[in-house]
Amino acid sequence: MTRKPFICGNWKLNHGLVETQAVLRAMAAEASTYSSVELAIAPVTPLLAAAAQVLQGSALGLAAQNVHHQDKGAFTGEWACHHLSELNVGYAIVGHSERRQYFGETSAAVGQKVRACLDNNLVPIACIGESLQEREAGQIWDVLKNQMDPITAAVQPDEAHRLVVAYEPVWAIGTGKTASAAQAQEVHAQLRSWLAGAFGEDVAERVRLQYGGSVKPSNALELLSEKDVDGALVGGASLQADTFLGIAAAAFELA
Ligand code: 13P
Repeated sequence: MTRKPFICGNWKLNHGLVETQAVLRAMAAEASTYSSVELAIAPVTPLLAAAAQVLQGSALGLAAQNVHHQDKGAFTGEWACHHLSELNVGYAIVGHSERRQYFGETSAAVGQKVRACLDNNLVPIACIGESLQEREAGQIWDVLKNQMDPITAAVQPDEAHRLVVAYEPVWAIGTGKTASAAQAQEVHAQLRSWLAGAFGEDVAERVRLQYGGSVKPSNALELLSEKDVDGALVGGASLQADTFLGIAAAAFELA
């Protein structure tokens, strides 16, 4: 089974309008070179419309960093899946550890967001990951399983191939400490076996598993060479075109 590698940049709270347009223009100019790799960027939400304009007709997709699970209502400050679809945004990152840590996003809420994405034709990029303390306390599998269960429970087997799961160990995010390729593979293999338990082996083989946490051009090839590492969710190194495209090039080399 071949899974199309998927590299997504998460810009978090960074580039403003001018930089967003310039960096996306530079990335879009090169994106079609890596046609066997799926590429997307998640800018800050208020700039999605401007980003969509720049990326019109390009091979670089757009992702949102978050989304609300309901379509409408009295939810000040939120936006729904259909607002993203209207802007040609194809993906939504849900359950990022920063959302869980700073904004109280629960695993149950992440499941609801995954459901909303699938109902609205968005690809959910559902994030999970353990903290250093949890890893050192030997709780990694309990933590990851507790985060995965509401995600798999929200998805039917016949649509599960559309799901993307991003494993982002919290201790590797923005710290320069990457998980070793072997550590990433160990977790990804376990995730795929949980997916097989929920949806059957054939479906589990189709689900793409991204690794995230200090991915850069210099370590991308090694991480992406692992059998169950199907892409990357990239923070810092996605902010500039050359480093993001360097990671895309590594995925392209392996695809
Ligand atoms: P860094 O690549 O900056 O470690 O961030 C990873 C991340 O959180 C992507 O969602």
